[in-house]
Amino acid sequence: MSCFSCFVSRRKKDVSRVEVDNGSRSAHTPGNGVTNASEGEWKRECSEGKGKSVMSGKSRTAAASFGFRELATATRGFNEANLIGEGGFGKVFKGRLSTGELVAVKQLSHDGRQGFQEFVTEVLMLSLLHHSNLVKLIGYCTDGDQRLLVYEYMPMGSLEDHLFDVPQDKEPLSWRTRMKIAVGAARGLEYLHCKADPPVIYRDLKSANILLDNDFSPKLSDFGLAKLGPVGDNTHVSTRVMGTYGYCAPEYAMSGKLTLKSDIYSFGVVLLELITGRRAIDATKKPGEQNLVSWSRPYFSDRRRFVHMADPLLQGQIPVRCLHQAIAITAMCLQEQPKFRPLIGDIVVALEYLASQSIEAHRYGVRSPPLQPSSIMERD
Ligand SMILES: Nc1ncnc2c1ncn2[C@@H]1O[C@H](COP(=O)(O)OP(=O)(O)OP(=O)(O)O)[C@@H](O)[C@H]1O
Ligand SMILES: [Mg+2]
Repeated sequence: MSCFSCFVSRRKKDVSRVEVDNGSRSAHTPGNGVTNASEGEWKRECSEGKGKSVMSGKSRTAAASFGFRELATATRGFNEANLIGEGGFGKVFKGRLSTGELVAVKQLSHDGRQGFQEFVTEVLMLSLLHHSNLVKLIGYCTDGDQRLLVYEYMPMGSLEDHLFDVPQDKEPLSWRTRMKIAVGAARGLEYLHCKADPPVIYRDLKSANILLDNDFSPKLSDFGLAKLGPVGDNTHVSTRVMGTYGYCAPEYAMSGKLTLKSDIYSFGVVLLELITGRRAIDATKKPGEQNLVSWSRPYFSDRRRFVHMADPLLQGQIPVRCLHQAIAITAMCLQEQPKFRPLIGDIVVALEYLASQSIEAHRYGVRSPPLQPSSIMERD
């Protein structure tokens, strides 16, 4: 994982997006036109209202083009009171359209060409991809030099908001809810990898990009880095290394060779966050514990130590077998060698089973006692 030390952060947070412009390795793959669309091309694609998915060939509702004024009105002049978040791209405001629909409006800050490129990719990808576990893009605005994206409003914010730094008066996410979120996120990824044609590599899977509905149903968001996956006999797509520190697969970080298995690694990191309640990267932790994957490696090889991985906020309210199985799936996703990582379809099946077990345990009150190392050892 030492390769990450060469990353240059361009993001504001601890767990920041990173970009390595690795020169000779950075050639964009010919034919992977989505991320290379020119301004003229994508405007035509979107504003002609084709609403036709080149991936599925089915008709879809196209994203709407909004005027800047309309969005200013919706957010009451981008009032700070309506500010719901801020990422490396810019601020996110809650707003209400004239139709009464609640939306999240993301206003891109003016930080150059790359921001625009990601904006284009986001609009194109979300115009083509439609699934109940992907956030809906309602529209966009390209008035003058303004670039804004309008999404369905996700009332519970991001998974990151619920998993880390939980205030004492707030109920932490239950194990059952965590499994529900894992299953939904896996289904979203399965759609990208297996149903989209050609497949889509998400490239930015992290807890901040998993948004939550009122009932904690998850939706993947932020497709500005997504790439069309390899087609034909090709095994990978070559690209500049982009992603978020702590979530990036090691082989991708080192070689720039992007495969579907890069996403599986990132998914493994999210699973690890769900299990442990620890951030992928946490500079406030002591040395040796700051990188979650490095911290977890010694635990994976010793079942008796699995108990020490569980989020203390769960207070042992986890069916023990589910914990063991969830950790086993996570360890497979985090295999150093991509070929040993499972396919997303298999992960969905395994997680669905785990989620159903968690619901059963909840329904019938079959809870394990608070997890103690000794009690786990007795069971084993
Ligand atoms: N559709 C939405 N509905 C509700 N809240 C949203 C929505 N989109 C984003 N947010 C909020 O805005 C925050 C910032 O999102 P954004 O995607 O801009 O940045 P990020 O994903 O946290 O980081 P980065 O883009 O820098 O990688 C999210 O964490 C979430 O709380
Ligand atoms: Mg995001």
